[in-house]
Amino acid sequence: MRFLDVDGLGPVSRIGLGTWQFGSREWGYGDAYAAREAAAIVRQARELGITLFDTAEVYGNGRSERILGAALGDERADVVVASKVFPVAPFPVVVSSRLAGSARRLGLDRVPLYQVHWPNPLVPDSVTMPGLRQSLDAGRIGAVGVSNYSLARWQAADEALGRPVVSNQVQFSLAAPSALDDLVPFAEREGRMVMAYSPLAQGLLGGRYGVDHRPGGVRALNPLFGTENLRRAQPLLDVLREVAEAHAVTPAQIALAWLVSLPRVVAIPGASSVAQVEANAAAADVDLRPDEQAALTAAARTFRPVSAVRTLVERVQERVGAGRG
Ligand SMILES: NC(=O)c1ccc[n+]([C@@H]2O[C@H](COP(=O)([O-])OP(=O)(O)OC[C@H]3O[C@@H](n4cnc5c(N)ncnc54)[C@H](OP(=O)(O)O)[C@@H]3O)[C@@H](O)[C@H]2O)c1
Repeated sequence: MRFLDVDGLGPVSRIGLGTWQFGSREWGYGDAYAAREAAAIVRQARELGITLFDTAEVYGNGRSERILGAALGDERADVVVASKVFPVAPFPVVVSSRLAGSARRLGLDRVPLYQVHWPNPLVPDSVTMPGLRQSLDAGRIGAVGVSNYSLARWQAADEALGRPVVSNQVQFSLAAPSALDDLVPFAEREGRMVMAYSPLAQGLLGGRYGVDHRPGGVRALNPLFGTENLRRAQPLLDVLREVAEAHAVTPAQIALAWLVSLPRVVAIPGASSVAQVEANAAAADVDLRPDEQAALTAAARTFRPVSAVRTLVERVQERVGAGRG
């Protein structure tokens, strides 16, 4: 495993574990996954040196936090647990009580990284950040992060907090590489962390989904699994497969290796099995040659998915067509 030093957090494993899947009906993994597999995934993650675990109060209405806290057991205070507040009415008193709820479900006195889940479009960070600053000063959190923030809003959050907001968790993968343009250079310049969520594009970059085999649940709504986008993704998947073959690893591992070889970037893939967390942890040790890194970046920039609206229209047309056929 490789690590990144982050102010207020210490060493953070370059590959973390995303736990939205834990206890969340929308992933469709079922009760046995929530009751047993999730804990086995966490234990194996620890065995393999993973120290970063991402969750949120909204995942499974708190079930993700509960499952994660229980699975970490006595180690829960020794790792970087990153949770998130959903910033509805994010006044200090509200933030404080939401943090207390997360800490209780996780079994922690102090949440190492507490993130604002989305930028509230109506409420500025000058309202949200004072509550987080109080929690930081009281030692109830170790550091403040944000999620889904633009660069300008990240900088505004810094200003409002009065100290650095150490991380920004954003959608970032070979299928969605826009963080390369501004967030990664900023993080490198300022010594911050970009936390890549959906780093496997929710499984697309594993290369096993296609028009005859699409994932269900929440991913049925992901435009990347629409027919036209699956077609457009093929050249990117071909480059991934070629690089993967040269390293005798899987396309998913190359997709993660590409991310974590970027400066100040960590990735938090979710996992549906213990075998996946093993593969994902091992991706941290894949060394990409500069020409491979460049070829992957070029393929990522060439991939131009069609919009969610166009994918929706496509789906309606396909349904109507299937009904007629
Ligand atoms: N801040 C936010 O707004 C936000 C939004 C989304 C996610 N997140 C966080 O980011 C985490 C990860 O994102 P995500 O779950 O959306 O997407 P992801 O990590 O890109 O995809 C996870 C899925 O990919 C498949 N997979 C995992 N490892 C694999 C491997 N080695 N080979 C092939 N397939 C593999 C599994 O699904 P199957 O096996 O079923 O195909 C798994 O459930 C979440 O758990 C959550 O903590 C945050």
